[in-house]
Amino acid sequence: MNEPQYTLIFLKPIAIQRGLVGEILSRFEKKGFRFKALKLIRMTREKTEELYSIHRGKHFFEDLVNSIAGKEIVAAILEGRNAVEVVRRMIGSTDPTKAEPGTIRGDYGLDITENIIHASDSWESFIREAKILFPEFNI
Ligand code: PPS
Repeated sequence: MNEPQYTLIFLKPIAIQRGLVGEILSRFEKKGFRFKALKLIRMTREKTEELYSIHRGKHFFEDLVNSIAGKEIVAAILEGRNAVEVVRRMIGSTDPTKAEPGTIRGDYGLDITENIIHASDSWESFIREAKILFPEFNI
């Protein structure tokens, strides 16, 4: 039997402020992904820094952490075939001004820091991020 294939996404605070949560989550449902977990999380600075620890030292680290710390995100674990790769294609390039129309960042964003949504970029990232945001989830 095939192993379940998961990925993790979270909608950034800007997506919640702009009332885009339902619209964006429905794209993943329509594509055929199943929600294995879904929750609203108020992010502490500590948890935000842990989540983005791979970017520590980069010139955008402080801005990135400040855009999320103390605010709410909507995080989910999705299950479906080639979940990591397919979801990364659905969200589009990191910089929304370069993301293709038809992708989530391409359709809803303009700012590279507040780029609407995050998705795990590998299975290893999924495991690391899921431990931080969904410690109760048993992979
Ligand atoms: S990189 O350049 O390879 O580290 O970029 P990437 O792994 O795609 O994601 C970088 C995350 O940092 C946020 N961010 C920026 N990235 C690149 N350049 C600038 N100037 C920048 N400012 C902020 C960006 O929103 C990515 O966050 P996530 O949550 O991964 O989308």
